[in-house]
This record gives sequence, C-alpha cells and structure tokens, in this order.
Amino acid sequence: MITVTDLRKVYRQGDREVVALDGVSLQVPKGSIHGIVGHSGAGKSTLVRCLTLLDAPTSGSVSINGAELSSAHDADLRAARRRIGMIFQHANLMDSRTALANVAHPLEIVRSPKRQARAKAAELLKLVGLEGFENAYPAQLSGGQKQRVGIARALASDPDVLLCDEPTSALDPKTTDEILVLIKDLTRRLQLTVLVITHEMHVIKRICDSVSLLEGGKIVEHGPLRTVAADLGSKLSRTLLPLPAAEPLGSGVVLEVLFSGDTASAPVLSAAARKFDLDLNVLAGSVESLDNAQFGHLRIQLPEGADAGPVVGYLRDQGVSVSFAGSEAA
Ligand SMILES: Nc1ncnc2c1ncn2[C@@H]1O[C@H](COP(=O)(O)OP(=O)(O)OP(=O)(O)O)[C@@H](O)[C@H]1O
Ligand SMILES: [Mg+2]
Repeated sequence: MITVTDLRKVYRQGDREVVALDGVSLQVPKGSIHGIVGHSGAGKSTLVRCLTLLDAPTSGSVSINGAELSSAHDADLRAARRRIGMIFQHANLMDSRTALANVAHPLEIVRSPKRQARAKAAELLKLVGLEGFENAYPAQLSGGQKQRVGIARALASDPDVLLCDEPTSALDPKTTDEILVLIKDLTRRLQLTVLVITHEMHVIKRICDSVSLLEGGKIVEHGPLRTVAADLGSKLSRTLLPLPAAEPLGSGVVLEVLFSGDTASAPVLSAAARKFDLDLNVLAGSVESLDNAQFGHLRIQLPEGADAGPVVGYLRDQGVSVSFAGSEAA
C-alpha cells in the first residue's frame, strides 16, 4: 500500500516560485495498479522523484506499507528505497554487462554473495520470460527484451512497490502490450503495489485498476477506472472513451450518451425513441471494454424542433450518462 498525503513541492528559480506539486494525496492498495496521467509540466516526474525521496518534498508525507518514508534518514531511508522498484522509459542497462549481470547488479551493491545473486538473477530473468538470454548483452536484445531485463532488475531487491515512469513510451504497440501484460501479471503474482505514470491512455485502459488526472500539480479527478469512465462529465471519461468527430445534420439537438454496466446491454435508446416517437440519428459511436466492463458511447441527434429535456430526463432515469454535445467545452 502506498499512501501519499498532501504532498507539496515548490521549486525556487531565482526569486520565482514554481509549485510543481500542490497538495497531492492518493492511496494505492496492495495488489493493484494506479495510473497517473497528465499533460507535460503537470508534475508527474516531480511526483516520482518525491515518492522515492530522490527529491525532498517541501511538505507532506509518503508511506509504504505503513512505514513513513518522508521522516526516514540515512540507513532507514536506503532500506526503504530498496522496497521501491523503478522502471523507466528506457531500461538504461549497462552495455558491458550481460542480462544476468545487469539484474544481479543491485544485489551486488548490497553485497549479496555472488553465487546467490546470480541464481536469483537467473530466476528473475525466467520470471520475465527471458530464460536462455542470461548471457546476452544489451546490444543483442530488442527494446522489449531490454525492458524485461529492466523489470527483472527492478524486482531484484524484492520490492513491495513498483514505480513505472512511462514504461512503454519507447516501444511499438505490440511490444507495449506484451510489457503491460507482464506488469499486470507480476502485480498479481507478487502482490505488488504499482504506480504507473504515463501520457498514454492505452496504458491506463489495459492495466490500471484506478486512475488520477494530474493538472498543474493537483489531482483534479480520480477513482476506479470503471467509475471514472462511466461519468461523461469527467475529462478522463472523454479521453478513455473517445468518439470520432462527426458533423451534425441540420439543427437538431446533439447529445452524447454513455451506456455502462447493465445499461450497456439494455435497449434503452430504442425504448426512448418509441416512447417519445422520435427518430434518433446516430452520428458516431464506440464500444469498448474497460476493466471487464462494457461501455457504449454514442453521439446522437434529435430531429429538428424536438424537445431534448424529456428525452435526457428519461435516459438519465435509466442510468445512462448524458451530456449536451459541445457542452464539455463550456
Ligand atoms: N528542478 C526544477 N527546478 C525548477 N522547476 C522545476 C524543476 N523540476 C520541475 N520543475 C517545474 O515543475 C513543473 C512540473 O514538472 P515535471 O517535470 O514534474 O512535469 P511532467 O508532468 O513530468 O512533464 P513531462 O510530461 O513533460 O515530463 C514544471 O513547471 C517544471 O518546469
Ligand atoms: Mg516528466
């Protein structure tokens, strides 16, 4: 379990202050994966640095499995940091060392007996699907294989927590999915607590149980993936379940409707059309499965002159999330 409470980080640049983190709080339960998304400059990297205390927070606290990191010093802090494994965009392997020696490196630093370190490294390479590649040098490995070595190395100190900073941003789509499956699988098998920082919604959709949106150093939206996606009023829902652009036909009111859970399979829309005796025009649509739940997102248009109020009221009564198209820009 990771608990972050009211974390603030203020940088000074000459006589100017930059508030990079402005009271960030979050909790990630053991065995789950939490995603943090945000635009460039939102504070994502600062958050990672403050979590590992590579950078001292201005105020606030970070604890891992109940142990306070922010007040630890020297040996305690080093021990606490070993409970955190890190994965970056590039694996940053040592080119002159084999895959096995790269994974064994963190163990050598803490003076594990060499034979033991090598045995453990071999076991970890097997765990990440690289059995047989023990003696390969980084130059002989693909990007995805290098990232697997990086993941094995991150696991060498038996961490409780895995921090992943843009773990797949340098990989092609197929390799990205393979690495995501691996991260998800390891989280379950080793009961890790995982925080993934990313600008790719795909990563959030594929592996995260919950998600936060970071803007200007603040978490502005957060929650379980399904809950956040089901709310058309949230920015995250719009990026998780995007719709293609489509020109309205004439002047009829355009609505966005989101079906999820039980409403996804019920014929609510045709029932509405019958009830109000209206022809509903579908302008755009997408159906996606997130966290094993079905979501259907449609943009529909009512006939010219039709009163949208009762239709919207009816749909909302049926548990459908509805918004007036274009209103998200307001
Ligand atoms: N060492 C520093 N000194 C001063 N300002 C900093 C420092 N590090 C970050 N900042 C500022 O803090 C804010 C957040 O930066 P951060 O690097 O955390 O963003 P980010 O979300 O990781 O962005 P990106 O997606 O581009 O990597 C920015 O305004 C940045 O200019
Ligand atoms: Mg960054």
